[in-house]
Amino acid sequence: MGVENINTIGVIGAGTMGAQIAMVCAVNGYEVILQDIEEASLRKAKESLEARMARWVEKKKKTKEEVDQAFGRLSMETDLNSVKDADFIIEAIVEKLDVKKSLFAELERLTQEDTILATNSSTIVSSKIAEGLHRPHNVCNVHFFNPPLKMELVEVVRGEHTSDETANTAVKLIESLEKIPVLLKKEISGFVANRILGKLMDEAVYLLENGYATHEEIDLVCKKALNHPIGPFALMDLTGIDVNYFVRLQRYQESGKEEDRPAQIVAEKVEKGELGRKTGKGFYQYT
Ligand code: NAI
Repeated sequence: MGVENINTIGVIGAGTMGAQIAMVCAVNGYEVILQDIEEASLRKAKESLEARMARWVEKKKKTKEEVDQAFGRLSMETDLNSVKDADFIIEAIVEKLDVKKSLFAELERLTQEDTILATNSSTIVSSKIAEGLHRPHNVCNVHFFNPPLKMELVEVVRGEHTSDETANTAVKLIESLEKIPVLLKKEISGFVANRILGKLMDEAVYLLENGYATHEEIDLVCKKALNHPIGPFALMDLTGIDVNYFVRLQRYQESGKEEDRPAQIVAEKVEKGELGRKTGKGFYQYT
């Protein structure tokens, strides 16, 4: 399907990423269906989008009328059937391969022949998700960064299963969202940004766990000495410590190498439900 035929976008999962991805699509003129199995997630998504978009109006990024029109194009649903007529689907649910695989199988059954099915996974290549599907050529990765309303770059990743048309349409769609696409030449789990970031995070956690510095000090060094806009621990709180944990767990399960096992300090935070900003506490406390 060409980008000119895309009118309706389905976004599955209304969490940290999905809610804002849906709004990015709506402000750029698409009809959007944001679907989540949890009513509470949709409620939270609506509240947080209203607050964010009110700030856009205050800052004159968009007029009140434009924002109202965008909300008018955005519907929120708990029933997966609601996305059956979508032309392009962006999945942003929990980072677990088996859960994503069963969702994609269901989406393939529900949607049209040529609907493009993209995953926003932060690390899993789409060939793994497309395994066993009848139309793997429609599947690719489109990886937005957090927060999607602000971050300009999107990694688009095609696998051998992805058709040229799907890859081209994904790239054009991202451009139509006023974002900058980078199309990777071939698949690699974690893509570019998160592979580089992963090394930084691992080292930051190593230094903390072994008592070389506090998380505040490590963040300060990254900000003031390396000129990073945000330190690794503040970033983990922003992206969700559980996301970081599952990425590492996945890598450990794949490699079986002890060095890939998620760090104790991260596993403990996940166990306690201290997942970062979204739960009010992570490495830092939020009010
Ligand atoms: P989140 O935990 O904030 O939200 C996930 C949402 O999906 C929840 O509202 C949950 O109710 C919903 N959900 C779970 N299973 C579902 C299903 N079967 N059908 C419909 N909804 C379902 O997760 P977050 O952080 O938004 O991550 C989503 C995806 O985006 C993951 O694959 C993650 O790797 C990726 N990602 C996350 C980034 C981040 O900074 N948090 C950055 C880039 C990608």
